[in-house]
Amino acid sequence: MALAAVGALLLGGCDSAEKTSIERLAQPVGATDRTDAIHSLWMGSWLAAMLVGVLVWGLIIYACIAFRRRRDDEIPVQTRYHLPLEILYTVAPVIVVLVLFYFTIVTQNDTLAAASPSGKADHTVTVVGQQWSWTFNYDKDPALDGKTTVFEAGTPANRPTLELPVNKSVDIKLRSADVNHSFWVPAFLFKMDVIAGKVNHFSFTPDRTGTFVGRCAELCGTYHSRMLFNVKVVSESDYATYLKGLRSQGNIGPALGGSEIDQQNGLINEVQKNNSSTGAS
Ligand code: CUA
Repeated sequence: MALAAVGALLLGGCDSAEKTSIERLAQPVGATDRTDAIHSLWMGSWLAAMLVGVLVWGLIIYACIAFRRRRDDEIPVQTRYHLPLEILYTVAPVIVVLVLFYFTIVTQNDTLAAASPSGKADHTVTVVGQQWSWTFNYDKDPALDGKTTVFEAGTPANRPTLELPVNKSVDIKLRSADVNHSFWVPAFLFKMDVIAGKVNHFSFTPDRTGTFVGRCAELCGTYHSRMLFNVKVVSESDYATYLKGLRSQGNIGPALGGSEIDQQNGLINEVQKNNSSTGAS
C-alpha cells in the first residue's frame, strides 16, 4: 500500500510511540469496540485523497510538459468549451463525494449502534456537562445494588474521573445543566455534543484498561479550556469498589442539573454559584 511505503520511509529514527502515531496518520490508538471502524474510515479517506492527489498531480505535470510552448513565435492550442472534459470534471468530484458519503454513513451507523440487539447495555451513565466541569451519574448500577444512583461531580480545579469496567457495554446519556458542551475522549475517536434541553446518547464497550484524557470540545464560556476529565477503564471488581466508595462518601444521586446539583449541598462550585446568582444559564 502506498501509505505504508511512505510511512516506512519516514520511520527511521522514531521511537515506538512516534512510529505508531505515523503509521496511524496521527490518530490515537483506539480504546473501544467502535474505534476500528472509525480508524478504517480515517485511513481509507487518506488513501482516497492520496490516489486523487497522485492522479491530479500527474495530469498537471503531463499537461505542463506535453503541451508546453515549443517555439517562441507560436502559442500552444487554446482549448475552450470542451464538453466531454467539462462533464468529466463535474461528474468525477460528485463520485468522490458520494463514495466518501457512503462510507461515512456506514461508519456512523456502526459507531452509533446500540450496545446489544436488545438495546440494553450492561451499565448506564448519565453525564452532565455544566459550566465548567462534568458530573458522572452511575444509574442504578448492577455492580452496586441495582437501585442506588451514585455520582462524582468535578470542578475546573478538580477534574472528575469517569470509571468504566473493561469489556462491558455502557450507555452514555449526555445532558447539559446550562449551555451546549461537547463530550470528547480522543482515545475513543469520538465526540458528541451535549445540548441544552436535549438528551443525547451513545453506547460502546471499552476494550482495554487504562486512563484516557477527556475534554469539552465546544466553546462554552470563560473556563471552557479547563473543562477536562479523565476516563479510567478498570476491572469489574475495581469498578464495583469505586461505586461503593462513592456511596460511602454520600454521593447519592442522581445529580442532573444546576438546581438539582445545588440541592446536593456543597457540590456546586463557586463559579456555578456566581452564575446562578447573576441569572446566567
Ligand atoms: Cu463545556 Cu467547553
